[in-house]
Amino acid sequence: MISFQNFSFRYEESKDFTLRGIDMTVQTGEFILLTGRSGCGKTTLIRSLNGLIPHFYPGEIQGDLVMDGRSLLEMKPAQLAGQVGTVFQDPRSQFFMTDTTRELAFGCENMGLPREETIDRIAKAAKDLELADYLNRSIFALSSGEKQQIAVGSVTCVLTVALVLAVAEDMFSFSCAT
Ligand SMILES: Nc1ncnc2c1ncn2[C@@H]1O[C@H](COP(=O)(O)OP(=O)(O)OP(=O)(O)O)[C@@H](O)[C@H]1O
Ligand SMILES: [Mg+2]
Repeated sequence: MISFQNFSFRYEESKDFTLRGIDMTVQTGEFILLTGRSGCGKTTLIRSLNGLIPHFYPGEIQGDLVMDGRSLLEMKPAQLAGQVGTVFQDPRSQFFMTDTTRELAFGCENMGLPREETIDRIAKAAKDLELADYLNRSIFALSSGEKQQIAVGSVTCVLTVALVLAVAEDMFSFSCAT
Protein backbone atom coordinates (compact mmCIF):
# COMPACT_ATOMS: atom_id res chain seq x y z
CA MET A 1 0.00 0.00 0.00
CA ILE A 2 1.26 3.46 -0.92
CA SER A 3 0.00 6.46 0.97
CA PHE A 4 0.60 10.16 0.25
CA GLN A 5 -0.07 11.92 3.54
CA ASN A 6 -0.68 15.66 3.17
CA PHE A 7 2.29 15.54 0.79
CA SER A 8 3.64 18.75 -0.71
CA PHE A 9 6.73 19.44 -2.82
CA ARG A 10 8.41 22.61 -4.04
CA TYR A 11 11.33 22.43 -6.51
CA GLU A 12 14.35 24.19 -5.05
CA GLU A 13 14.36 26.85 -7.76
CA SER A 14 10.58 27.41 -7.69
CA LYS A 15 8.77 29.92 -5.57
CA ASP A 16 5.51 27.95 -5.37
CA PHE A 17 4.77 24.36 -4.40
CA THR A 18 4.13 22.11 -7.42
CA LEU A 19 2.36 19.43 -5.34
CA ARG A 20 0.10 20.71 -2.57
CA GLY A 21 -1.44 18.65 0.22
CA ILE A 22 -1.81 15.37 -1.69
CA ASP A 23 -3.78 12.77 0.27
CA MET A 24 -4.03 9.55 -1.69
CA THR A 25 -3.84 5.85 -0.89
CA VAL A 26 -3.08 3.18 -3.46
CA GLN A 27 -3.97 -0.30 -2.24
CA THR A 28 -1.87 -3.35 -3.05
CA GLY A 29 -2.95 -4.74 -6.42
CA GLU A 30 -4.71 -1.53 -7.37
CA PHE A 31 -3.98 -0.05 -10.80
CA ILE A 32 -4.64 3.68 -10.94
CA LEU A 33 -4.58 6.13 -13.83
CA LEU A 34 -3.43 9.65 -13.11
CA THR A 35 -4.43 12.22 -15.69
CA GLY A 36 -4.36 16.00 -15.87
CA ARG A 37 -3.38 18.93 -18.03
CA SER A 38 0.22 19.49 -19.03
CA GLY A 39 2.25 20.92 -16.16
CA CYS A 40 -0.19 19.88 -13.40
CA GLY A 41 2.44 17.72 -11.67
CA LYS A 42 2.02 14.09 -12.84
CA THR A 43 5.74 13.60 -13.50
CA THR A 44 6.56 15.39 -10.24
CA LEU A 45 4.35 12.89 -8.38
CA ILE A 46 6.15 9.97 -10.06
CA ARG A 47 9.55 11.49 -9.20
CA SER A 48 8.43 11.66 -5.57
CA LEU A 49 7.59 7.95 -5.63
CA ASN A 50 10.79 6.69 -7.21
CA GLY A 51 13.17 8.89 -5.22
CA LEU A 52 14.33 11.19 -8.05
CA ILE A 53 12.72 13.69 -5.66
CA PRO A 54 14.57 14.64 -3.50
CA HIS A 55 17.77 12.77 -4.45
CA PHE A 56 18.11 14.12 -8.00
CA TYR A 57 15.64 17.02 -7.87
CA PRO A 58 16.15 18.73 -4.49
CA GLY A 59 13.47 20.88 -2.91
CA GLU A 60 11.20 21.33 0.05
CA ILE A 61 9.01 18.41 1.14
CA GLN A 62 6.13 18.57 3.58
CA GLY A 63 4.00 15.67 4.80
CA ASP A 64 4.96 12.04 4.26
CA LEU A 65 4.97 9.33 1.61
CA VAL A 66 4.62 5.86 3.08
CA MET A 67 4.86 2.44 1.46
CA ASP A 68 3.87 -0.63 3.46
CA GLY A 69 4.33 1.26 6.72
CA ARG A 70 7.72 2.70 5.85
CA SER A 71 8.47 6.27 4.79
CA LEU A 72 9.96 6.37 1.29
CA LEU A 73 11.51 9.70 2.26
CA GLU A 74 13.86 7.94 4.67
CA MET A 75 15.12 5.41 2.12
CA LYS A 76 18.39 5.73 0.25
CA PRO A 77 18.26 5.53 -3.57
CA ALA A 78 19.74 2.00 -3.52
CA GLN A 79 16.97 0.81 -1.17
CA LEU A 80 14.31 2.54 -3.26
CA ALA A 81 15.55 0.80 -6.40
CA GLY A 82 14.18 -2.52 -5.19
CA GLN A 83 10.89 -0.99 -4.08
CA VAL A 84 9.64 1.27 -6.84
CA GLY A 85 10.27 0.65 -10.53
CA THR A 86 9.53 3.20 -13.21
CA VAL A 87 8.93 2.81 -16.92
CA PHE A 88 9.49 6.21 -18.46
CA GLN A 89 7.24 7.86 -21.02
CA ASP A 90 9.86 7.15 -23.66
CA PRO A 91 11.35 3.75 -22.69
CA ARG A 92 14.32 4.29 -25.03
CA SER A 93 15.64 6.72 -22.43
CA GLN A 94 16.08 3.93 -19.88
CA PHE A 95 17.71 1.17 -21.94
CA PHE A 96 21.33 0.32 -21.21
CA MET A 97 21.80 -2.54 -23.67
CA THR A 98 21.12 -3.06 -27.35
CA ASP A 99 19.89 -6.65 -26.98
CA THR A 100 16.54 -7.42 -25.29
CA THR A 101 17.70 -10.33 -23.14
CA ARG A 102 20.79 -8.48 -21.98
CA GLU A 103 18.55 -5.54 -21.12
CA LEU A 104 16.32 -7.79 -19.01
CA ALA A 105 19.45 -9.10 -17.26
CA PHE A 106 20.96 -5.67 -16.66
CA GLY A 107 19.21 -4.82 -13.37
CA CYS A 108 19.89 -8.27 -11.88
CA GLU A 109 23.55 -8.12 -12.89
CA ASN A 110 23.79 -4.66 -11.41
CA MET A 111 22.48 -6.02 -8.10
CA GLY A 112 25.13 -8.77 -8.25
CA LEU A 113 22.63 -11.65 -8.41
CA PRO A 114 23.98 -15.10 -9.33
CA ARG A 115 23.73 -16.02 -13.02
CA GLU A 116 21.15 -18.79 -12.40
CA GLU A 117 18.90 -16.41 -10.44
CA THR A 118 19.11 -13.86 -13.26
CA ILE A 119 18.20 -16.52 -15.85
CA ASP A 120 15.24 -17.65 -13.69
CA ARG A 121 13.96 -14.09 -13.30
CA ILE A 122 14.19 -13.43 -17.04
CA ALA A 123 12.29 -16.67 -17.72
CA LYS A 124 9.58 -15.71 -15.21
CA ALA A 125 9.22 -12.19 -16.63
CA ALA A 126 9.11 -13.57 -20.18
CA LYS A 127 6.31 -15.95 -19.16
CA ASP A 128 4.30 -13.52 -17.01
CA LEU A 129 4.52 -10.64 -19.49
CA GLU A 130 4.48 -12.77 -22.66
CA LEU A 131 7.89 -11.53 -23.81
CA ALA A 132 9.17 -14.83 -25.21
CA ASP A 133 8.95 -13.64 -28.83
CA TYR A 134 11.10 -10.60 -28.07
CA LEU A 135 14.03 -12.34 -26.39
CA ASN A 136 17.49 -12.23 -27.98
CA ARG A 137 16.55 -9.48 -30.39
CA SER A 138 17.95 -6.08 -31.15
CA ILE A 139 16.05 -3.45 -29.18
CA PHE A 140 16.30 -1.18 -32.24
CA ALA A 141 14.19 -3.66 -34.21
CA LEU A 142 11.23 -3.53 -31.80
CA SER A 143 8.11 -1.41 -32.17
CA SER A 144 7.40 1.30 -29.58
CA GLY A 145 4.91 -0.91 -27.74
CA GLU A 146 7.34 -3.83 -27.77
CA LYS A 147 10.07 -1.57 -26.37
CA GLN A 148 7.70 -0.59 -23.55
CA GLN A 149 7.05 -4.24 -22.78
CA ILE A 150 10.80 -4.93 -22.55
CA ALA A 151 11.12 -1.89 -20.26
CA VAL A 152 8.34 -3.28 -18.03
CA GLY A 153 10.10 -6.67 -18.08
CA SER A 154 13.47 -5.24 -17.07
CA VAL A 155 11.87 -3.41 -14.14
CA THR A 156 9.92 -6.53 -13.13
CA CYS A 157 13.13 -8.61 -13.09
CA VAL A 158 14.53 -6.58 -10.19
CA LEU A 159 11.52 -7.47 -8.07
CA THR A 160 9.96 -4.13 -7.41
CA VAL A 161 7.03 -3.67 -5.08
CA ALA A 162 5.39 -0.86 -7.04
CA LEU A 163 5.51 -0.33 -10.78
CA VAL A 164 4.94 3.18 -12.09
CA LEU A 165 4.17 3.57 -15.77
CA ALA A 166 4.52 7.02 -17.28
CA VAL A 167 2.37 6.89 -20.38
CA ALA A 168 1.77 9.56 -22.97
CA GLU A 169 -1.68 9.91 -24.49
CA ASP A 170 -0.59 8.32 -27.75
CA MET A 171 0.50 5.24 -25.85
CA PHE A 172 -2.85 4.47 -24.23
CA SER A 173 -3.17 1.30 -26.29
CA PHE A 174 -0.33 -0.17 -24.23
CA SER A 175 -1.35 -3.18 -22.20
CA CYS A 176 0.54 -5.57 -20.01
CA ALA A 177 -0.08 -8.18 -17.35
CA THR A 178 0.86 -6.17 -14.25
N1 LIG B 1 13.20 20.28 -12.41
C1 LIG B 1 12.26 21.22 -12.24
N2 LIG B 1 12.54 22.37 -11.62
C2 LIG B 1 11.59 23.33 -11.43
N3 LIG B 1 10.32 23.20 -11.83
C3 LIG B 1 9.97 22.07 -12.46
C4 LIG B 1 10.94 21.03 -12.70
N4 LIG B 1 10.30 20.01 -13.36
C5 LIG B 1 9.03 20.43 -13.52
N5 LIG B 1 8.84 21.64 -12.98
C6 LIG B 1 7.57 22.41 -12.98
O1 LIG B 1 6.61 21.69 -12.19
C7 LIG B 1 5.32 21.75 -12.80
C8 LIG B 1 4.80 20.34 -13.01
O2 LIG B 1 5.60 19.70 -13.98
P1 LIG B 1 5.42 18.17 -14.33
O3 LIG B 1 6.55 17.80 -15.26
O4 LIG B 1 5.29 17.38 -13.07
O5 LIG B 1 4.01 18.19 -15.10
P2 LIG B 1 3.25 17.03 -15.89
O6 LIG B 1 1.87 16.95 -15.30
O7 LIG B 1 4.04 15.78 -15.89
O8 LIG B 1 3.16 17.63 -17.37
P3 LIG B 1 3.13 16.88 -18.80
O9 LIG B 1 1.71 16.33 -18.98
O10 LIG B 1 3.42 17.98 -19.76
O11 LIG B 1 4.17 15.81 -18.81
C9 LIG B 1 5.48 22.56 -14.09
O12 LIG B 1 5.06 23.87 -13.83
C10 LIG B 1 6.98 22.52 -14.37
O13 LIG B 1 7.40 23.69 -15.00
MG1 LIG C 1 4.94 14.62 -17.41
